[in-house]
Amino acid sequence: MSSSRESWESMFVGESPALRALVDEVRLLRGSDVPVLVVGETGTGKEAVARAIGGGALALPAAGGAAPFVPVNCAAIPEPLLEAELFGVERGAFTGATERRLGRIEEADGGTLFLDEIGELPLSAQAKILRVLQEHRFRRVGGGAERPSAFRVVAATHRNLRAAVREGRFREDLFFRLAVYEVDVPPLRVRTGDIAVLARHFLPSSMQLAPSALAILERHPWPGNIRELQNVLRRAALIAGSMGGVEVAGPHLPAYLVRSVPPPVIATSFRPSRLSEHPKMPSIFPPVIVRASTRPEAMSAPPEPRERTGGSQRPARLADLERQALQQALHRCNGDIARVVRELGVGRSTVYRKIKQYKLERRRSE
Ligand SMILES: Nc1ncnc2c1ncn2[C@@H]1O[C@H](COP(=O)(O)OP(=O)(O)OP(=O)(O)O)[C@@H](O)[C@H]1O
Ligand SMILES: [Mg+2]
Repeated sequence: MSSSRESWESMFVGESPALRALVDEVRLLRGSDVPVLVVGETGTGKEAVARAIGGGALALPAAGGAAPFVPVNCAAIPEPLLEAELFGVERGAFTGATERRLGRIEEADGGTLFLDEIGELPLSAQAKILRVLQEHRFRRVGGGAERPSAFRVVAATHRNLRAAVREGRFREDLFFRLAVYEVDVPPLRVRTGDIAVLARHFLPSSMQLAPSALAILERHPWPGNIRELQNVLRRAALIAGSMGGVEVAGPHLPAYLVRSVPPPVIATSFRPSRLSEHPKMPSIFPPVIVRASTRPEAMSAPPEPRERTGGSQRPARLADLERQALQQALHRCNGDIARVVRELGVGRSTVYRKIKQYKLERRRSE
């Protein structure tokens, strides 16, 4: 029992209070059979939460073996096919139904029925689902007897179902039947502290993450949440690896990430002329061309909450980051300037000037 607990917990990477609270909720729900509604923005891990809940102790069938976890993507099934998909089809029910086909409700008997994207379900289909949830009985398309199916229901949506209920787009009775317990999966922007550990988790074990790249990742608001982070790291690892590198650095990240910085930082930080007190001195960060379209109001992502990264201190923090990045590169390269130049992709004279400007040691003193 404890080893299975460990295996589901290890799927949830992160140490932030928000993530730990989520894991605690999942643990609680694994020990019950109450219907659960999982809500959260796209890519936050709603399906991961549903699967973890579905793998709980009550789902284990008495006969042993894994309990079924049966996902139904409500957004992907055309309405005319939904009934057949959910309830199954009796042989000869219609032309072409040459074999009996089990429906999702029947397959979920003894396990979990996961109604993903439940907010996309049209009203007529909502009525059918409601009936099954009330009675736990169904009839295959094409007749036959009513059959029982004992399943636990977990639903998920990125929509605000309460608003949909108010607007008459979602049945209130179905909402209350599904949302006996509501789990709100936090977006990545409220748990910035998890980005470093998640990023390393998504990189191949042979690859490092440069502090300058982490700083960029930590400033992005992540509208696509964990999935977006995962995609960014996959791409970065591919590019860094193709150049024979073992470290993901700023230049390996997509340009939109570097640009997705709130206004004071866009205007001051990545512009070489503003980073240091010396206007002509280039930055060790790659220069980024700032266009009008990178203004936050023109970007699809919402601006980051201020408290997350200490927005008011950003310009100072960026100089710090530059100093830190150079200091770490010097240590990694044991003071070998030629290697630092190659690693950071900047000119030799820039490295010397920055060492002097920041009064850095070329080698560790210990
Ligand atoms: N806490 C976590 N730690 C590590 N990986 C995670 C975590 N949560 C989710 N993931 C990964 O993030 C990706 C997105 O998760 P998932 O598909 O569960 O999100 P979702 O909220 O259902 O997304 P969508 O709204 O697009 O359906 C998956 O690859 C999943 O494995
Ligand atoms: Mg999903």
